[in-house]
Amino acid sequence: MKPFLISKRASGILLLASILFLLFVGSCKKNLLLIEGREVSTHNLVAPKFGIDPNSLFAESKNIMISTDSREASKIGLEIYKKGGNAVDVAIAASFAVSVTRPQSTGIGGGGFLVLHNAKSGKSYAFDFRERAPLTANRNMYKGKPKEESLLGYKSVGVPGTVAGLVLIQKKFGKLSLKEVISPSIKLAEEGFTIYPDLAEAIQESEKDMSPSMKNIFLPKGKLPEAGDILFQKDLAKTLRIISETGDSEFYQGKIAKALAEEVSTKGGAIHLKDLQKYKVKEGQPLEIEYRGHTIRTMFPPSSGVHLLTMLRMLETKELHSLYDFSQSDYYHFLAEVMRRGYADRAVLGGDPEYTSIPISTLLSSEYAKEKIEDFNPQKATPSSTYLSRLNLKAESPQTTHISVIDAEGNAVSTTQSVNYRFGAAVVLDGYGFVLNDTMDDFSRSPGEPNVYGLIGAEANSIQPGKTPLSSMSPTIVLKNGEVFLVTGAPGGSYIVNAVLQSILFNVDLHLTLYESVARGRIHHQFFPDALSMEGPATDTATFNQLKAKKHEIRLGNNYAKLFSVKRENGILYGAADPRGDGIPLGE
Ligand code: DON
Repeated sequence: MKPFLISKRASGILLLASILFLLFVGSCKKNLLLIEGREVSTHNLVAPKFGIDPNSLFAESKNIMISTDSREASKIGLEIYKKGGNAVDVAIAASFAVSVTRPQSTGIGGGGFLVLHNAKSGKSYAFDFRERAPLTANRNMYKGKPKEESLLGYKSVGVPGTVAGLVLIQKKFGKLSLKEVISPSIKLAEEGFTIYPDLAEAIQESEKDMSPSMKNIFLPKGKLPEAGDILFQKDLAKTLRIISETGDSEFYQGKIAKALAEEVSTKGGAIHLKDLQKYKVKEGQPLEIEYRGHTIRTMFPPSSGVHLLTMLRMLETKELHSLYDFSQSDYYHFLAEVMRRGYADRAVLGGDPEYTSIPISTLLSSEYAKEKIEDFNPQKATPSSTYLSRLNLKAESPQTTHISVIDAEGNAVSTTQSVNYRFGAAVVLDGYGFVLNDTMDDFSRSPGEPNVYGLIGAEANSIQPGKTPLSSMSPTIVLKNGEVFLVTGAPGGSYIVNAVLQSILFNVDLHLTLYESVARGRIHHQFFPDALSMEGPATDTATFNQLKAKKHEIRLGNNYAKLFSVKRENGILYGAADPRGDGIPLGE
């Protein structure tokens, strides 16, 4: 028999082929992440920002887990746990910290919502410490005025609630003293932290709008800072110290209140001392529904949590997991149509329940959802309406912030906080160093006039004295067999509700790992404009084309929401931070 010989040339080709094969296998391995004991493909996941290791965006632990959009805030949360703090102390400490490191997103001049769960009692609580319209505000205050009036400067500022909310919740449910909880943030403001690319960019983009005293802080010596520089906020440190010593009294009754009222009212804004003296946090029970064996608890109106629950009710009418396995385009088409209908409700009904009647029990009922989705056409998108589809959604930036915390017993906190658009009103309170919100823009300036996120609202969200503007922020907790399973939420303007919705679907219906549930490409439809926005990694080309064939007007682009979630399963705590953001999860 002839020996098996190959020529020199052939052996060279063989060698090259084997090297290429090994490189291919290696690169396939590179596209896999080991998460929760599973090999997960990165194919449908959004890639982390430049230089960020995806492995730093998910974590496991036993005792505590926190996920935030700020490395420093997550570290401070963990530090407070190690000092003996409970989940609430951790969340409140991280809230103050993030107000130092993400002034473009949130801060003590803003407002927010918080949902917490007490494992021992099995009870959950919801807090609304969002901005209120000043008492002299009125429905026509922006009528015929340039858009900037509700977005920039003193006229756009609502009465801030963050300090009242955080101080009250920490006092009620925390273990440590307020001083202990705020102290690391005072240090962070005083000694500074390293500016990261997103902050440097936000400063650059808002420079033209900033007041002179704001420029003194964010453009020291008149120069735009670069990533890697240190940001010092001495005045903010002073204000945080006052809060740590006096709680919320100086902020709402004393010297900070007087300075705030004086500065805003003399510069054309509507906030007076009375507005601050009368500020009250609203406390209640979260809204709740059962969804496929899970209890979903979310924030009450004027949060959009109620619409999140209606959307889940509509989704419940189909077996989603098998629909997803059978045809991704059918799944995404159905999901988009549910989003369209949920956001339509928001546009018409959304507002402050103390001023407008919101039929909550109807919106949470299965009958209502069934009726609402009855006209679903599996072959074709239902146009939102011809006149609405002509308007455009303004490009936005992912501001606001979210913090999720869970401990070994299943105590949990989910909180979303904001100064609204990038750097809020772009003014800081002189001498106190905190950015004032521009949340008045979240009201409907007039029925049908879109806000900065392209969201429309109706009479239900008109401006009235003392009223709270409608919000997309929807901090949410999911329980399974009476114990917390998932804590989730996101910043991202109009994208928030759909991101939280998909976070629930990814965890509950599709059983993905927690990191996949924050990093997966997402879709978004907000009724108006009548367009389906999709991220590249969300689907493959075939699905994309099938959705187009169903007459969706597809816009490929970023999803501006960033999910920060934690999960508890079989005694293990998991944390995940959105690769679209700047934060990390940390646990112990
Ligand atoms: O409450 C709201 O709906 C808005 N103020 C949230 C703003 C936000 O998430 C900013 N990010 N794009």
